[in-house]
Amino acid sequence: MDKLVIHGKKPLKGTVEISGAKNAVLPMMTAALLTDGITIINKVPDLRDTRTMIRLLEIVGAGVEFENGTLKIDGSTVNKLEAPYDLVKTMRASFYVMGPLLGRFGEVKVSLPGGCAWGPRPVDFHLMGMEKLGANVTLEQGYILAQGSSLKGAHICFDFPSVGATGNVVMAAVLAKGTTVIEHAAKEPDIVQLCEMLNKMGAKISGLNTSTLTINGVDELNPVEMTVIPDRIEAGTFLMAGAALGDITLNHAEPDHLKTVLDKLEEFGAHYTTEPGKINIKKADKVNAVDVTTEVYPGFPTDLQAQWMALMSITDGQSIVTDTVYHDRFTHIPELNRLGANIFLHDNVATIQGTKSLKGAQVMSTDIRASASLILAGLMAEGQTDVSRIYHIDRGYEKIEEKFSSLGAEIYRVSE
Ligand code: UD1
Repeated sequence: MDKLVIHGKKPLKGTVEISGAKNAVLPMMTAALLTDGITIINKVPDLRDTRTMIRLLEIVGAGVEFENGTLKIDGSTVNKLEAPYDLVKTMRASFYVMGPLLGRFGEVKVSLPGGCAWGPRPVDFHLMGMEKLGANVTLEQGYILAQGSSLKGAHICFDFPSVGATGNVVMAAVLAKGTTVIEHAAKEPDIVQLCEMLNKMGAKISGLNTSTLTINGVDELNPVEMTVIPDRIEAGTFLMAGAALGDITLNHAEPDHLKTVLDKLEEFGAHYTTEPGKINIKKADKVNAVDVTTEVYPGFPTDLQAQWMALMSITDGQSIVTDTVYHDRFTHIPELNRLGANIFLHDNVATIQGTKSLKGAQVMSTDIRASASLILAGLMAEGQTDVSRIYHIDRGYEKIEEKFSSLGAEIYRVSE
């Protein structure tokens, strides 16, 4: 297993290229299963999760080519309507094959994902949506079997604007007969891009960027070419590193997707400027403790909560971080505390007493964003930090050590 070794406190300077968004490309890849032609997707990040999704697409029979960040997915050969446990357990986003395969073929079998490092993460909204569209949903030996050869538009209201359930149900509804209305729909940029892709394919979805999506079913969809939006979570992670340690410019970043994060970084004391596709951030002269509450988009993303705690650890004040999206997503706290942070958790509310200075130690990744927070903490800490189990970071961050090295960080990968 690989680990990352970091010698912290090195100033960061230069330009970094932000990759295409993981959470946008995964549902886009499954949307390609809705047509029998060749879909082309550009700016695809080379990640463990995109590789896992490629394997899944191949298992269901699609032809896939991946070269130089461009994916070609041939949906004409799809012949196996099943997502196996082995893949779904390693990547919950595998569940995204449910909507398109049910919508196009009237049947699909997908392993139930089970729990994850940060809590139960149910899929009940996905299943409720499929049932409302007329599918018969049953559980057989750990697999969800959804059947419904003639799905019909329906009125669906989620209790919470789930990203995954919105994407999945939209992909099932685009080929259903009649009109579907989804209330409390997610409006994350990843979902907006999925809807834009589906509309380009011939779907009729309105209400993009709002909490109510209206989908008028069509008979068939055509393959299209798309370019993935920049990854706002990767960008947010680099922005926090810049705010603590340097003067860096992010290329291929979307400032509009990061307004809440940039506001918080300004309160922290960092200075930033933006232009289309670019953000420059300069280190804070004096760092302030800033409270954050995660919310659905456009609120502060839960996927940057762990990294924010690392940043708050170097202030000299007290800050409160509350996660309202995932109440159990805090496995990074004991690891950050090993680096000298002083974080106390009560329910979904963490209190961070800034310690001004972190000290290097051996720590362990527990999930993608927790790993990013440990790397960030290691970059800010005195001495050496070893981050083990970094297969988690490889799921969601493309070449993270190369990108940080190019900015002047001392970080390298070794095999244990
Ligand atoms: C997606 C992102 C993940 C991000 C999360 C929240 C992908 C591949 N992953 O995950 O990085 O952290 O959005 O922004 O895009 N819920 C239910 N029942 C359901 C579905 C969700 O109760 O059927 C709850 C969840 O437990 C959670 C909340 O809704 O509390 C939000 O989850 P959701 O938006 O669905 O997250 P994912 O789509 O799994």
